[in-house]
Amino acid sequence: MENLEEKLDFLRRYCFLAPDTSNSEELVKIFSEVIRVITTEKSNRPIYGSVKREKCKDHFLTTNEIPEEINKNIIQLLSTLPNSLQGAVKSYHPFLVKNIIPSPAFLYIAVQAGVSLLMANGVTGEDSGEILQAELDAANAFSKLAGYDEKNSAGIFTFGGTATNLYAFKIGINKVCRDAMIDVIDKNLCVVGSWPAHYSHQTACAWLGLGIKNYIRVKSQPNQSTDLDSLEKTCIKLLSSGKRIACIVGAGGTTSNLGIDDFEKISAIRDRITEKFNLDYKIHIHADTVLGWVYLNFKKYDFEENPLQFSKNIVSKLKKALKAISSISYADSFGIDFHKTGYMPYISSMFIVKNKKDFELLRREEKIMTPLFHDANAYNPGKFTLETSRSSASILAAWVTAQQLGMNGYRVLIGNSLECAEAIRVELAKNIDLGLLVVNSDSFGPDLFLRCYSISNKLSPQESYLKELNNEAFTKNNNSYNKEFFNWLISKSTVEKYNIVLSKTSAAHYTPDGRPIEALRIYILNPFMNNSLAKELVRNLVSAKKDFDSNVWCENNEYLQYTA
Ligand SMILES: Cc1ncc(COP(=O)(O)O)c(C=O)c1O
Repeated sequence: MENLEEKLDFLRRYCFLAPDTSNSEELVKIFSEVIRVITTEKSNRPIYGSVKREKCKDHFLTTNEIPEEINKNIIQLLSTLPNSLQGAVKSYHPFLVKNIIPSPAFLYIAVQAGVSLLMANGVTGEDSGEILQAELDAANAFSKLAGYDEKNSAGIFTFGGTATNLYAFKIGINKVCRDAMIDVIDKNLCVVGSWPAHYSHQTACAWLGLGIKNYIRVKSQPNQSTDLDSLEKTCIKLLSSGKRIACIVGAGGTTSNLGIDDFEKISAIRDRITEKFNLDYKIHIHADTVLGWVYLNFKKYDFEENPLQFSKNIVSKLKKALKAISSISYADSFGIDFHKTGYMPYISSMFIVKNKKDFELLRREEKIMTPLFHDANAYNPGKFTLETSRSSASILAAWVTAQQLGMNGYRVLIGNSLECAEAIRVELAKNIDLGLLVVNSDSFGPDLFLRCYSISNKLSPQESYLKELNNEAFTKNNNSYNKEFFNWLISKSTVEKYNIVLSKTSAAHYTPDGRPIEALRIYILNPFMNNSLAKELVRNLVSAKKDFDSNVWCENNEYLQYTA
């Protein structure tokens, strides 16, 4: 029987870094083994392992007990890892096009893992030392990129795009109700956004105590940007009825179609209504740019010289996207998701305010905090962040990765994604008669909306598309075709056969009378995507469409059986 010393010896040697770091090789070995084991899966599929996810016996998750004894056989334990990964998306496969899922950069993963050894909590500069300088530097850099004066702005890392919106709305609430950190908030408070805005806006309202009823959604344009006329009229109506607006949140790249608002105009609306109603507070304007921020990297790109040789069409898209996103200099705050268009792993987001005094509004009362902050002069973001513990390793990893990729890295990654999305668009156009119609050719982003029509339709796809803009019953029918085709496409046997993992949007856009047009959605971000893979992806999709029309979907729109 082992005694305490023997067990401790094992833990000290193989599980934790020694004070003199002499056993660091053990961590490197474990890391190598993890990567080796994970990459034993060599299928050419966008889904890890068996699409059908057969349950394996040899699976540590098949137990729901914590073992009594220390498991010394790390290799054996790790060997079961692939079983746990069955059915998960493979970000590194070019045909994983279902959502905004980038391949994460190596450097982030390595720095995050290594720096985590220190366990420096980002709650205080006392614990994090110089690591948190990365947060200050990143905030500075991204503020400048957004056109803010970096001497007045500030930013913090947080737990996702959802949190960036939450921060903005909270600041807005506190601007209206100065005692909102202490007392119940006014029932008349609301946030104004738009129809295609991400649902996390409503989540934030619900969690902040406003309730989703007080997230007011205004109309949008076909390109998913906010209908500014509707915005102004709605704000006037709200204020006339006694509501108080904590925040106007505009689109800085909608989840689908990358719709971007003109924040100069939104700011002018804010100024007009402030004067009209003689408001005694300033409505906070937030730009939900968690996707669109990446286009700021094109600011210094010489579009005339075009050194990266993007095609004419892509240059034109990039210029438009850049012009639109540059207007965020008029917003009071904006968000960045590095785990989306920043090619970093979950979760890594930044929330940036134009005026650093806005963070003062979030400052907790000194007396409610445990004695965590001994050094009053240290950078102590924990005095106003929502989180207490924060990983400073992730902060440093994000900043180091941004340093590695640089603006040109992002230009290359995003530019290539746009070029490949264009190549897919061109290939799909050749197959339009099969009922495959791309309905967002003018999108700024690398996502495609594919409205699909049954081959048995009497009208051409273009005619069908025009007809459904004004014909509710026809739209409904085609919506159901799209839904069924999509359900079949994502069924396990279809994924296995045609090797594509895509998604569907419930509203590629809205018809003039407000009906949603559903469509398949293809999002390109993978750095390995290229022209020939783009063609292969379309070939697979075309074969699947033919298969569906011939063998699954009936003339009379009765849906035949398929096995999921
Ligand atoms: C525009 C937009 N805002 C906010 C979010 C929420 O971000 P997260 O999932 O990181 O919380 C998303 C997520 O897709 C998004 O697309």
